[in-house]
Amino acid sequence: MANLNKWIIRLLTRLRDERMIWDLMGSLYNRRIYDLIAELYTHIAQQLPSLRTARILDAGAGQGYLSVLLASHSPDAQVTGIDYSLIQVRRAENYRRQKKVLNCAFEQNNILSLAFQDAFFDATVSVGSIKHWPDAHRGLTEIHRVLKPGGCLMIAETDREVSDDNLRKFVKGFHIPFVPEDLLFWGLRHVVFGQSFSQDTLAAAVNRAGFRNIESRKMDCCPYVVVKAWK
Ligand SMILES: C[S@@+](CC[C@H](N)C(=O)[O-])C[C@H]1O[C@@H](n2cnc3c(N)ncnc32)[C@H](O)[C@@H]1O
Repeated sequence: MANLNKWIIRLLTRLRDERMIWDLMGSLYNRRIYDLIAELYTHIAQQLPSLRTARILDAGAGQGYLSVLLASHSPDAQVTGIDYSLIQVRRAENYRRQKKVLNCAFEQNNILSLAFQDAFFDATVSVGSIKHWPDAHRGLTEIHRVLKPGGCLMIAETDREVSDDNLRKFVKGFHIPFVPEDLLFWGLRHVVFGQSFSQDTLAAAVNRAGFRNIESRKMDCCPYVVVKAWK
């Protein structure tokens, strides 16, 4: 039974990271996540160093909530949101149009081999994406490559060490029709949060990719960890 459980978790984790799943199911996630982590987006927008005319990369932008927020905070900056799912890119482009934000663009691009020249961006942000990269080190090394020396990275991910109580609160907000709450809790515990990063492992991964002056914290508003670091 324990083996079957492990096998199901492994299978679901593989599915979780498939681009096709984001093509098909992305809107289910996109519709629910904003209200749950809006304060995290605001935190990142406030904590990024003043970037008036900067080029900013949002790696694994999904629907583009953070890209659009950053672009509206800094009207002279240029934000590029990338995602490997073309359908997520289209969803983000629709969202940008709805919000009438002009200094932001979305494109299909894989974090593991970014189609940008070295030292192109002044800052990079990424929320909830790194756990899906088949090679997190390679993704972080790519981000390091495309950042200018002195550029800032802010990366956030679901907290592997979240308590059951905090995860239950998150599950209530994530509610998916016809999926019983206990099943959703099991899935998030074992397949999402359980296969994610802790504050320490995320900071260590960022460090291994060559970033310095690393600060990390757990968010109070939602079960995510955030790492801020510099090239
Ligand atoms: C959990 S969603 C987070 C989306 C968005 N950052 C947010 O805050 O809502 C993860 C996103 O990362 C994208 N993604 C996963 N692996 C990727 C890769 N290797 N390259 C580019 N995007 C990737 C997925 O398509 C998905 O849109």
